[in-house]
Amino acid sequence: MTGSLDIVRSVADLRSRVKYWRDQGLSVAMVPTMGALHDGHLTLIRQGLELADRVVASVFVNPTQFGPNEDLSRYPRQEAKDAEALDGAGCHLLFAPKVEEMYPDGFATTITVKGVSQPLEGAFRPGHFDGVSTVVAKLLLQCLPDFALFGEKDWQQLAVIRRMTKDLDLPVQIVGVPTVREADGLALSSRNAYLSPEERAIAPILYQALQAVADGLKTGKSPEELCHRASADVLAGGFASVDYLDVRDAETMTKVAKLTRPARILVAARLGTTRLIDNLGVE
Ligand code: PAF
Repeated sequence: MTGSLDIVRSVADLRSRVKYWRDQGLSVAMVPTMGALHDGHLTLIRQGLELADRVVASVFVNPTQFGPNEDLSRYPRQEAKDAEALDGAGCHLLFAPKVEEMYPDGFATTITVKGVSQPLEGAFRPGHFDGVSTVVAKLLLQCLPDFALFGEKDWQQLAVIRRMTKDLDLPVQIVGVPTVREADGLALSSRNAYLSPEERAIAPILYQALQAVADGLKTGKSPEELCHRASADVLAGGFASVDYLDVRDAETMTKVAKLTRPARILVAARLGTTRLIDNLGVE
């Protein structure tokens, strides 16, 4: 260990650490994660350190955001490695609760954010954003940080969390941090670990497809036509299926026929058994 990372597992211990800092007038940033940390997560920690005096990371593989046929059981779990990476990045505290701490017997509350959570991931992963909203609301209320940082790679998740935070008047500033990419454009993701070497070589096609749509939009071409062509390119490149590839309003996730407000091109596609998502902004 290089720094001074502490690990707590109960909400009571998390609150008492944060109170101790608050009593000294220190500000706090939180980085919620599901672990299997990569440089994208560590960028969130570094950004948190620029914004606040103390940074708390949470590592919790949240069962309620996985569907019955999703990868909950095989989701990578590597707490010791994650703790070492957090420590090296200068994170002060790791909150790593057990499932029983977050969802004790009798737990009965779910937060649903309507509208923004319904299309795209919401349509392909029913209940996913209810799980995300509920666990993020809990984490934010448990820690009460000044800032909470999330990667833009999960753009729709970020939009859902922003909406929820505003609607519930949570006293936290939500900060989106740009996606970190490999040299060939592949967005860093814990799920990249599932890719075989052959699939890893194909994976950057996803980002190339987003770039092709962004370039086409700049020349005034229709979003629908561009997305149709880009999906065909992703399939021709070796992906097994494309769940969606679409241009949406960056804040509300409603469909965009003409670019009048900031928009986002979003994609989800399967490569072998791995589902990858990515997105790119267009002004
Ligand atoms: O993006 C993630 O890792 C998760 O969805 C989050 C925000 C930590 C909630 O479990």
